[in-house]
Amino acid sequence: MKKFIVCITGASGAIYGIKIVKEISKNHKVYLIVSNHGYEVLKWEENIEKEQFLKMFNKNVEFVPVEDIASHIASGSTFKNIEGVIIAPCSTGTLSAIANGMSLNLIHRVADVALKERKKLYLLLREMPFSLVHIENMRKITYAGGTVASASPGFYHQPKTMEDLINFVVGKVLDFFNIDHNLFKRWRENYES
Ligand SMILES: Cc1cc2nc3c(=O)[nH]c(=O)nc-3n(C[C@H](O)[C@H](O)[C@H](O)COP(=O)(O)O)c2cc1C
Repeated sequence: MKKFIVCITGASGAIYGIKIVKEISKNHKVYLIVSNHGYEVLKWEENIEKEQFLKMFNKNVEFVPVEDIASHIASGSTFKNIEGVIIAPCSTGTLSAIANGMSLNLIHRVADVALKERKKLYLLLREMPFSLVHIENMRKITYAGGTVASASPGFYHQPKTMEDLINFVVGKVLDFFNIDHNLFKRWRENYES
C-alpha cells in the first residue's frame, strides 16, 4: 500500500478533491489536509459540514489538521515513504504561498517538503483567467520540479454527464501518479462513432 498526501483548498471544485481521495484510498493510504477556506467551499458547493466530511471516507484516510505544523508529515524525514502531494483544488492563494516558500500552514509545508525532497507535487488549479502573478507563480513551481494543471476537462471522451467531466480531470491526476482507474475512455478507445 502506497502513501499519498492529498490537500483540499478553498478554490472552487471541492468535488475534485473528494473524488481523488475516494479513488486513491481504495487501495492506498491517504493523509488528508483541508484548509479552513476549503471547508467553507465544501459547505457552499457540496452542502457538507466539517463534521460530516470527516466521516465520508474509508479507514485508509487519515485526517491531519491544517494547523498541525508539527505533524509527522511536515518533516522531510517522513517523505521517504510518501509517493507525492496532490493539492486539488488548489487556490491561487495556496499556489502563491508555495511558489514563495511561505509554509504558513501544513498544506504549504508538505508542498515545500515535496519540492525539496524531489517528490511529486501536483497542483490542480481552478481559476480563470490567469493574471501574470498567477503565471509567474506557476512558472516558479514548474522550475522547482512541481506540476501545475488547470481543472479543464477534455471533451473527446464524449461526456454525457457532469460526473463524466469530473472523472476526466480526476483520472488525469491519477494517471500522473500511475494509479489505475477506469474513470474515462482514453483517446480512440471504444468510441461509439
Ligand atoms: C465559494 C468560493 C469559491 C472560490 N473559488 C476560488 C477559485 O476557484 N479559485 C481560487 O483561487 N480562489 C477561490 N476562492 C477564494 C479562496 O477561497 C481564497 O483566496 C482563500 O484565501 C484561499 O485560501 P486557501 O488556499 O488556504 O484555502 C473562492 C472562495 C469562495 C468562498
